[in-house]
Amino acid sequence: MAKVSALSLNSKKRKGKKITMVTAYDFPSAAHVARAGIDIILVGDSVAMVELGHETTQNVSLDSMIHHCQSVKNGIELADSGSMLIGDMPFGTYEFNDTDIALRNAYRFVKEAGCDAVKLEYRALTAQKIIEGGVAVMGHVGLTPQAISVIGGFRAQGRTAVRARQLLDEALRLQDAGCFSIVLECVPANVAAAITETLEIPTIGIGAGGGTSGQVLVFHDMLGMLSHPHHQQFVPKFCKKYAEVGHSIQEGLNQFKSEVESGVFPGDAYSPYVMSEGEKETFD
Ligand code: KIV
Ligand code: NA
Repeated sequence: MAKVSALSLNSKKRKGKKITMVTAYDFPSAAHVARAGIDIILVGDSVAMVELGHETTQNVSLDSMIHHCQSVKNGIELADSGSMLIGDMPFGTYEFNDTDIALRNAYRFVKEAGCDAVKLEYRALTAQKIIEGGVAVMGHVGLTPQAISVIGGFRAQGRTAVRARQLLDEALRLQDAGCFSIVLECVPANVAAAITETLEIPTIGIGAGGGTSGQVLVFHDMLGMLSHPHHQQFVPKFCKKYAEVGHSIQEGLNQFKSEVESGVFPGDAYSPYVMSEGEKETFD
């Protein structure tokens, strides 16, 4: 698959072809996503929730994000895919008035992990600074989980005419700043469609209906990674489950435990090593 770029994504939007994006956090997940030919692989700060088990996206460090991006890069290379790799800038690494800090942190994603772009929530001025520094930026408006303590909860945004207008204005500011694409998270479908039609750059929706230029889902949510009964409540209602990976994992582990305890495993079939004649002699 040819290398996905800001230009190729824009051409998809103009031709009415949908863009696909999925998160990945490590080597095997990235290899699978890349092999599926997904256009964009996002190392989301959702890693804090789905990989590290925290309740919000707020507690993941820049070093951790870089670490995850490095392993995802290896997965993309294994699959020999042209997928674009985007690193999510974590909470507390780009919000300061001193946008030099944001630029310096953005460089780390490119130089230490080989990312093609970074993503950040709102903040057109910061996006512009990073873009001027030579790093491509994907914007993100609507529900912006890093602001969870301000928003008050994981809930839809842009549900009044005034709020919808504000979302459009913010998206336009990000476009003017030079962002190549924008994520629209948890906004009404008609609002997302209107923003998509107004913007020239492609929009990627999550919980934003079918009128966006593409769709993104979180790997663990879409594949049913965590089948623990106490976790089901966290899979958002807009997320379709395309697999039940967690059930397969649990079944495999349950079966391993029972086979070891009953003596079925390893058995002769999985006991491949035999002593050579010479070794037998020295052993005696
Ligand atoms: O962190 C993440 O997974 C994201 C996507 C939901 C867009 O930001
Ligand atoms: Na994110």
